[in-house]
Amino acid sequence: MPEKEIIVGRGRKLRLRPIRTDDAESLVEMGLRSTPEDLRLRFFSPVRPMVGHLTSLLTEFNRAAHIAVAAYDPAAVDEEKGILGVVRLVLSRDKPEGEFAIMVRSDQAGHGLGHRLMEEMLVWARDRGLTRVRAEIMFENKRMLRLARAFGGVVQPQTQDFRTVHVAIDLKV
Ligand SMILES: CC(C)(COP(=O)(O)OP(=O)(O)OC[C@H]1O[C@@H](n2cnc3c(N)ncnc32)[C@H](O)[C@@H]1OP(=O)(O)O)[C@@H](O)C(=O)NCCC(=O)NCCS
Repeated sequence: MPEKEIIVGRGRKLRLRPIRTDDAESLVEMGLRSTPEDLRLRFFSPVRPMVGHLTSLLTEFNRAAHIAVAAYDPAAVDEEKGILGVVRLVLSRDKPEGEFAIMVRSDQAGHGLGHRLMEEMLVWARDRGLTRVRAEIMFENKRMLRLARAFGGVVQPQTQDFRTVHVAIDLKV
């Protein structure tokens, strides 16, 4: 997937690029600039930002079935450098569906990057003919639930795990 420019907030120009196998350190840096609470909401349990099993899972995956991009600011200096947000979509093997996950670096939240990354992920899904995308979201994650609902997300009937809800966005074909 080629790099592309996106505009967020009041005209800030960011770029989207695919997550690379050598991004482990950059993801750790993103984690260090995020709150423990945001990390917990993303990964469903406390996470210590360090290179290891989790960063391997997040960087070394089957690129035919798993799309992941990072947003960065090409003009950034100092603390604005690095990965500012990531969105990923994992395609189902047996049906035209996918599971998405998203994270915006805590110090970058609330400026529209989450919305923009969701839009991007939904374009991938539609381009691939998916009829639905899903996400598992922690029950108390009101911000993410609002974000998903803004794109037509509907909470599915309760799952076994009462800490999380499943949200589905149906895509018109
Ligand atoms: C949930 C999360 C992805 C939202 O990202 P974000 O960049 O803060 O999202 P946005 O800025 O697009 O939207 C957040 C709020 O800012 C507002 N906003 C501010 N400027 C905006 C703009 N230019 N465009 C759109 N929305 C804007 C939105 O309306 C929204 O308000 P609301 O929460 O009252 O509905 C982010 O907080 C996060 O990564 N959380 C931790 C990890 C997590 O929970 N991941 C989900 C697991 S699937």
